[in-house]
Amino acid sequence: MVCFTSKISVLLLLLLSAMVLQEGNCSTHSCNKKDQSALLIFKHDVVDPSNYLSSWSNEQDCCAWKGVQCDNVTGRVTTLDLSNQYLEGLSLRNSNYQSLVKPSNAYANFSSLKYLDLSFNEDLQLDNLKWLSHLSSLQLLNLSAINLGSETNWLQTMAMHPSLLELRLSMCHLNNISHSVMFVNFTSLVTLDLSQNYFHSNLPYWLFNISTCNLRKLKSLRLDDNELKGPIPDWLRKHEHLQHLNLSENLFNGSFPSSLGNLSSLTQLGVNSDSLSGNLPNSIGQLFNLRSLYIGGSLSGVLSEKHFFKLFNLESLVLLSAFSFDLDPNWIPPFQLHEIDLRNTILGPTFPEWLYTQKTLETLDVSSTGITSINSDRVWSFLASVRAIRLSKNKISADLSNVTLNSEYITMNHNNFTGGLPLISTNVYYLDLSHNFLSGPISPLLCSKLGREMNTLYYLDVSHNLLTGVIPDCGENCRDLAFLKIHNNKLGGEIPPSVDLHKNNLSGNSLDISNFKSLEYFNLGENNFSGVVPTRIPKSIQGMILRGNHFSGNIPAELCSFPSLRLLDLAQNKLSGSIPSCIFKYSFLDGARTIKYHPRFSVEFFLRGREVEFQGDWLFGILDLSTNNLSGEIPPELFDLTQLCALNLSRNHLVGKISSNIGGMKNLEILDLSNNHLSGEIPAAISKVSFLSLFNLSYNDFTGEIPSRGQLLTFTSWSYVGNPKLCGPPLLTHNCSEEVVNHDEAQQDGSNDSLNDSLYIGMGVGYVTGLGGVLYSLLLNRPWRHKYFGFLDNILDWLYVFVALKLNKLRELRASSR
Ligand SMILES: *[C@@H]1O[C@H](CO)[C@@H](O)[C@H](O)[C@H]1NC(C)=O
Ligand SMILES: *[C@@H]1O[C@H](CO)[C@@H](O)[C@H](O)[C@H]1NC(C)=O
Ligand SMILES: *[C@@H]1O[C@H](CO)[C@@H](O)[C@H](O)[C@H]1NC(C)=O
Ligand SMILES: *[C@@H]1O[C@H](CO)[C@@H](O)[C@H](O)[C@H]1NC(C)=O
Ligand SMILES: *[C@@H]1O[C@H](CO)[C@@H](O)[C@H](O)[C@H]1NC(C)=O
Ligand SMILES: *[C@@H]1O[C@H](CO)[C@@H](O)[C@H](O)[C@H]1NC(C)=O
Ligand SMILES: *[C@@H]1O[C@H](CO)[C@@H](O)[C@H](O)[C@H]1NC(C)=O
Ligand SMILES: *[C@@H]1O[C@H](CO)[C@@H](O)[C@H](O)[C@H]1NC(C)=O
Ligand SMILES: *[C@@H]1O[C@H](CO)[C@@H](O)[C@H](O)[C@H]1NC(C)=O
Ligand SMILES: *[C@@H]1O[C@H](CO)[C@@H](O)[C@H](O)[C@H]1NC(C)=O
Ligand SMILES: *[C@@H]1O[C@H](CO)[C@@H](O)[C@H](O)[C@H]1NC(C)=O
Ligand SMILES: *[C@@H]1O[C@H](CO)[C@@H](O)[C@H](O)[C@H]1NC(C)=O
Repeated sequence: MVCFTSKISVLLLLLLSAMVLQEGNCSTHSCNKKDQSALLIFKHDVVDPSNYLSSWSNEQDCCAWKGVQCDNVTGRVTTLDLSNQYLEGLSLRNSNYQSLVKPSNAYANFSSLKYLDLSFNEDLQLDNLKWLSHLSSLQLLNLSAINLGSETNWLQTMAMHPSLLELRLSMCHLNNISHSVMFVNFTSLVTLDLSQNYFHSNLPYWLFNISTCNLRKLKSLRLDDNELKGPIPDWLRKHEHLQHLNLSENLFNGSFPSSLGNLSSLTQLGVNSDSLSGNLPNSIGQLFNLRSLYIGGSLSGVLSEKHFFKLFNLESLVLLSAFSFDLDPNWIPPFQLHEIDLRNTILGPTFPEWLYTQKTLETLDVSSTGITSINSDRVWSFLASVRAIRLSKNKISADLSNVTLNSEYITMNHNNFTGGLPLISTNVYYLDLSHNFLSGPISPLLCSKLGREMNTLYYLDVSHNLLTGVIPDCGENCRDLAFLKIHNNKLGGEIPPSVDLHKNNLSGNSLDISNFKSLEYFNLGENNFSGVVPTRIPKSIQGMILRGNHFSGNIPAELCSFPSLRLLDLAQNKLSGSIPSCIFKYSFLDGARTIKYHPRFSVEFFLRGREVEFQGDWLFGILDLSTNNLSGEIPPELFDLTQLCALNLSRNHLVGKISSNIGGMKNLEILDLSNNHLSGEIPAAISKVSFLSLFNLSYNDFTGEIPSRGQLLTFTSWSYVGNPKLCGPPLLTHNCSEEVVNHDEAQQDGSNDSLNDSLYIGMGVGYVTGLGGVLYSLLLNRPWRHKYFGFLDNILDWLYVFVALKLNKLRELRASSR
C-alpha cells in the first residue's frame, strides 16, 4: 500500500483559550481590538506554510481578514472559517502541547460567535468540548474530520446549544449514539450531519422523539456511512419537513419501509445497505419533490413505471442494486435527468429506449448492466452530448471504425468492441478503451490534427487490444497527454515516444523522451531497452518505470535533479555500481512538498504475478532498485526519507548496516532488503515503523537478536530466514543463547518462499486527477475505506490481512458485516 495523503492540522483551542474577550464598546464598523489581538496570537502560534493567514496583520481591520467575519454593528467577530486551510499544525515553540490542548480555566468567552467551521483540520486534537458551552450564540458548528473519538459526551455538549441550526460532525470518529443522555435540546436544529462515523447500534428513537420538541424543524439528516443496524425505522416518516435524508452505507436490515414515501418534502434520498432485502416500494414514486434518488445495496426486484410515477423533479437517479426493469418500450419518463447511474442493474441486452428521451443528461453510467447490442446509428450521436459516459464491463459488440467520440470522460473498457480505434473530438479528456478487440494503428486517434485546435487528451488507455504498427511520435500534437497506456498490444518499432508501453516489444539504446514537455509519468517496463538509464526526461516527471529491461551502467546522478520524482522503479535490469547518495535528496521524498500536492493515482501492484489496480488518494515515495548488480553500502541518507512508502533493494550485492534512523520512516509500508550481504544487528528502532506490512530481511548476514516489539511481532520467520547469525523469535529453531550450527534446511525452504512472495510494486501508475466535480463522484463515489475494504475482499492475501490489522476501522467493518 502507499501512504495516505498527509494530514493537515491546526489547533484552534488555542484561539479559544487565548481570546479573553469582553464585550467591547466599539460601535464602529471596524474590528473589535480585543478580538483582533486574540486572532493575532492565534496566527502567531500556527504554522501556516501556504500563507493563508497573510492578510492577518496589525494594520488592517480584522473584519477584512480572510476567514473572519464580524457583526457590522458591534465589530465583534461572529464567524471564523478556517476549514480545510491546510494550516500545518500548532507550532510548539515556547509552549507545551498538552497545556494548549487542554483548555485552561479561563475559558474563552466568545459569546458572539455564531459560526465556527474548523472542518478538515484533521490533526486538530480536542481534548474535550467543554469550551463549546461558552459559545452560547452558536448557530453553525462544523467540526467535520476532527477526531472526537475520545469524546464520550459529545452529544450532551452539543445538546446544550438550543440556538444551533446546523451541526456537522462528519468523519469525527464518533462511535456511540446511544448514550445514557436521555434528553437533548435540539429544538432549532435544521441540519444534522453525522455521516462517516462509527455508530454501531440501532438508530435511537429518543434522539428523534418529536413529541419532546426535538428536531421538529429538521430538514437535513445525514447518517450515511456508519454502521447503524436494525430496521430503517418507520418513525422517520414523522419528520415531515425532511428534505434531505441519507442513510446510505449502513448495516440496516429488513425491508425498505414504504412509509418513507410519505416524506413528501424530500428532495434527496439516499439508502444503501448490504443487508436490506426485498424490492423498492412503489411509494417512492409519490415523492414529487425528489431531485436526487440514491439506492444501492442488496435490494432487488422489478421496477416499473409506478416507481417513478410522480418523480417530475428528479435530476439524479442512482440505482446500484440488482434491479431489473419492466417498462413499456414507449415509456416517457416524467423527469429529465442530469445524472443516471444504473451500474450493476439489469438493463440489457439492448440499450434502453427511454434513455434517449433524456435531453439534459450530463453523466451516464450503464457499466456492468448486461448490454450486448446497441444501435450504432443512434447511440453514438445520443452519447455525444453527454459529458461523461461509462459503458464498461458489458459485452457490447460494435465496430468503432467510423465512430467519433465527443464526451469529456469515457470508459468503454471490457467490451467486445472491434474495428479500428474511434476518432475523438477536442473535448475528450479521458478515454479508456482497454480490453477490447480493437485493431489497426494508433496514429489516427493520437495524431490526427483536429483543425487548428489542440487535442486536450490527458489520459488514454488502449491497452489489451490487438493494435499493430509503430508507435507514432506525435508528442507535439498531444501536449496535454500525461497518461498513455498501450501495453499488451502488438505494437513494434524502435522509437518509444512516451508513457505506458510496458509489455510490448520495444527496443533501442538511447531513450529520449524530452519532447513530451508535460509528461508526469511513464512506464517502459518489460521491454527490451538497453544502454544507460535515460536522463533526457522532462522536468515534470513524477513517476518513472523502467523495470525489466536491459539497462546497464550506474544509476545516473542526474536523476537527482528531477524535482517532482516520487516513484522510481529500475528493478530487474543490469545496473551496477553503488547507489548514489544524491538520489535520496529528491524532493519527492521530502514531506513538505508532498503535502501540498494531492494527485490521485491508480496503482497497479504486481502481486504474485497478478495485476491489481486500485485508485485512491495516495502519495508516493516508492523506490525499487531490486534485482540488479548494485554493490556498496546503502547510503545512510536513505534512512532519513520519512516520506518513503516502499523501499525495495532486494537481490543486489549491498553490504553494510541498516541505520537506526529507520525508526523515523513513519510512512514505510514495504521494506524488502532481502538477498544482499547486509550485516550488523537489526536496529530495534525498526519496531517504530508502525505501518509496515511487508518486511523482508531474509538472506543477508544480520547478527544478534531480532527485536521483538511493535509491528515486528506480526512478521513470521519468513522475514528473517537465511541469516544464520540471527536468533530469537520468530526464528523458533533456536534461541539466542545457543550457537547455531546448521542452517541449510531453513535456507532451502526459504529460498522458494521468498521467490514466490516477492512483491513487485510500482509497475504502473495511472493518473486520474483533474476531473471536475461530477466526474470525480463517478470515480470515487464511495468513501475510500469502502473501496479499500472491497479491495481487501478481492485479494484475500496475507499481505492485505496485515494491512487490515493495522486499520482498525477495516477490521471492525469486516467483523460486523459477517
Ligand atoms: C461572557 O460575556 C458576557 C457579556 O460580557 C457575560 O455576560 C458573561 O457572563 C460572560 N461569560 C463568561 C463565562 O465569562
Ligand atoms: C451588515 O452586513 C450585511 C451583509 O453585508 C447586510 O445585509 C446588513 O444590512 C448590514 N447591516 C448593517 C446594519 O449595516
Ligand atoms: C430547550 O431550549 C429552548 C430554547 O432555548 C428553551 O426554551 C427550553 O427551555 C429548553 N428546554 C430545556 C428542557 O432545557
Ligand atoms: C462543513 O462540513 C461538511 C462536511 O460535513 C463540509 O462538506 C462543509 O463544506 C463544511 N462547511 C460548511 C460551511 O458546511
Ligand atoms: C454506548 O453508551 C452506552 C451508555 O453510555 C453504553 O451502555 C453502551 O455500552 C455504549 N455502546 C458502545 C458500543 O460503546
Ligand atoms: C418521547 O417523548 C415523550 C414526551 O416527552 C415521552 O413521553 C416518551 O417517553 C419519549 N419516548 C422515548 C422513546 O424517549
Ligand atoms: C436484523 O438484524 C438483527 C441482528 O442485528 C436480527 O436480530 C434481526 O432479526 C434482523 N432482522 C431482519 C428482518 O432480518
Ligand atoms: C402514507 O402514504 C400512503 C400512500 O402512499 C397513504 O395511504 C397513507 O395514509 C400515508 N400515511 C400517512 C401517515 O400520511
Ligand atoms: C448519500 O451518501 C452517499 C455516501 O456518503 C453518497 O454517495 C450519496 O451521494 C448520498 N446521496 C444523497 C442523495 O445525498
Ligand atoms: C467506415 O467508413 C468508410 C468510408 O465511409 C466505409 O468505407 C466503411 O465501410 C465504414 N466502416 C464501417 C465499419 O462502417
Ligand atoms: C464477446 O467476445 C468473446 C470473445 O471473443 C466471445 O466469446 C463472446 O461470445 C462475445 N460476446 C458477445 C455478446 O458477442
Ligand atoms: C521483438 O522484436 C525483435 C526485433 O526487434 C524480433 O526479433 C522479435 O521476434 C520480436 N518478438 C516478438 C515476440 O514479436
